[in-house]
Amino acid sequence: MPLVTNPRGSIPLRRCLLFVPADQDAKVRKAATLPCDGVILDLEDSVGFAGKGEARAAALRALAEIDFGSRERLIRINGLASPWAADDLAALRDSRVAPDTVVIPKVDGPDQVEAVVRALENRPLQLLAAIESARGLFAAAEIAGCSPQMTGLFFGDGDYLADIGGQRTAQTLLYPRSVLVAAAASAGLIAIDTPYLRLGDVAELEADARAAAELGFVGKAAIHPDQLPIINAVFTPTPERIAWAERVLAAASSQAQGVFVIDGVMADAMTVRIAERVLAAARGAPERGRDGKS
Ligand code: COA
Ligand code: MG
Repeated sequence: MPLVTNPRGSIPLRRCLLFVPADQDAKVRKAATLPCDGVILDLEDSVGFAGKGEARAAALRALAEIDFGSRERLIRINGLASPWAADDLAALRDSRVAPDTVVIPKVDGPDQVEAVVRALENRPLQLLAAIESARGLFAAAEIAGCSPQMTGLFFGDGDYLADIGGQRTAQTLLYPRSVLVAAAASAGLIAIDTPYLRLGDVAELEADARAAAELGFVGKAAIHPDQLPIINAVFTPTPERIAWAERVLAAASSQAQGVFVIDGVMADAMTVRIAERVLAAARGAPERGRDGKS
């Protein structure tokens, strides 16, 4: 699993995480071959009520049987307020196989992350908390900082908009997205953006992903194979951006002054920090490049 250096240590490269309903075996097998940094085996909303038990068993079977290569293996459990979460957590605690990361949906406060940590007992799995409500948004910094197992925040726009009663536009998403990125960064973590649900709308997907990238998200969830190349391209530093970052570091190390000029723009210590971030992301990226090949 490629890693990216971060203030908190090393966190998996997560430009694109592909959701798959865990009870759909053909899609799960296909996902394990596709150009994504991680596969999220979903036990939550993409699985019907009658299929919850089978999806849980199928997810664990998939971890045992399928080679996901260098892709991060994530399981999204059911929400803690649902009737299925306790069984999901017990299965993860007792299973012979384990995912790399557990995605906890609908997190409203740090107590829910702490409950998951307790339920998993001695399994120190990485955690990703999905913020999908107004309460969750206002508690996002506390949620991000509440456990050393936390590795990021995930934005779920559908449930968030259902909670606040808004409609999906770039404007309505600006505030929650901005808060989420700042909350994650305040704990040294990363933020992953919500999936784009309109299948086939390539131009809109790209605009949506780019808006998230500009706000500071390091990656975005996907729901369909066709979305992966677009999301990978948006969240992978371009050769021009990498060349700029290298020029910044070279200029900074070749002179005694703190301030200098790059491409006609004043640069100083903050520019060096930005350049280091670009190069850290690029170092993780070559394993599955812009064309998505591993
Ligand atoms: N992961 C892996 N493979 C997928 C996939 C996914 N998320 N979505 C589609 N595919 C595969 C299909 O199985 C099909 O494979 P095949 O050509 O080998 O038979 C191919 O990609 C084309 O699929 P397509 O026919 O265009 O899609 P669909 O109509 O079968 O499915 C969805 C559409 C939305 C139901 C499906 O993409 C899906 O299940 N997405 C994930 C939903 C999810 O997990 N949601 C929870 C988070 S919001
Ligand atoms: Mg949701």
